[in-house]
Amino acid sequence: MSETRAETIAKAAGLIRRGGIVAFPTETVYGLGADATNEAAVRRVFEVKGRPPSNPLIIHVFGIEAAARLADMTDLATRLAERFWPGPLTLVLERRPNSGLSPLTTAGLPTVALRAPAHPIARDLLQQADRPIAAPSANKSGCVSPTCAEHVRLQLADAVDMIVDGGPCRIGLESTVLDLAGPTPAILRPGGIPKAALEEVTGALADPAESALRRSPGTQARHYAPKAALRLNATDVRPGEAYLAFGPSNLTAGKTRNLSPSGQLAEAATNLYGMLIDLDQSGATTIAVAPIPDHGLGAAINDRLRRAARR
Ligand code: TXA
Ligand code: MG
Repeated sequence: MSETRAETIAKAAGLIRRGGIVAFPTETVYGLGADATNEAAVRRVFEVKGRPPSNPLIIHVFGIEAAARLADMTDLATRLAERFWPGPLTLVLERRPNSGLSPLTTAGLPTVALRAPAHPIARDLLQQADRPIAAPSANKSGCVSPTCAEHVRLQLADAVDMIVDGGPCRIGLESTVLDLAGPTPAILRPGGIPKAALEEVTGALADPAESALRRSPGTQARHYAPKAALRLNATDVRPGEAYLAFGPSNLTAGKTRNLSPSGQLAEAATNLYGMLIDLDQSGATTIAVAPIPDHGLGAAINDRLRRAARR
């Protein structure tokens, strides 16, 4: 007999409370959750992901109150959280000395990255585990992030204690990471909340590409990458290539997927990782990728594609 949703979540929360690691859905991508106050559990997350210990983890909290117990929620942080939480915004804040967080989660930094996820399963898990949950994306370090339970299984299968299947992720790209601990607010990683939406609260922000390269740990390496090479801004398809199209297109390849035949960036974001994995499985050694407009969610899509294309 299959478990009810409530039984599944109770089991997952129990595992996290006892120091286990559990993959679960969020509105952005699947996360790999562990009790952020449990050093051994957090160490296992780094090991399973093969993630360098210098690259700190995002920590999920239920909301502003829980965040304020871990970090200095400044006026600006509170206004941003009121507007965008729960949702795909991560705030980098000064960590409280008595936060109780395992120093591993924050890679020993005096700051901490907090986000309140919007997915109902992620929220129920936070409430029942009743503690902050360290939750990096549920993939091997450097590889494509999973947007469905099957893609978690492909990469992490037996290495985790449980995978909670909540169907496909609505947004499909990770949260926007906004640094509020530096001299000026700066986007360290473009993501599910576009820059223009944040600027309605923060005022003008510097160019994400610049601040990310300057200030965020772990953002310079190849990342989000399939096995195949990527050829970006492709306006033709060469023999043997697979093709990732965007918008109306009559180019064809051995294997073609279209991120959004009607040219919608939100639809393209939702489809991006799954289609990269799919084209990668076709065995092509190169995936030609159509140009994607750089506004709105396009900035985050292009950020991921550029990093995936690095060699
Ligand atoms: O959408 C998401 O954010 C997903 C879901 C599962 O919540 N999580 C996620 O976590 O993408 P992760 O750990 O894979 O991404 C962490 C990002 C990295 O770019 C890391 O450098 C940055 O957040 N980060 C974490 N802590 C930081 C800190 N204290 N200062 C600066 N950057 C930090
Ligand atoms: Mg990740």
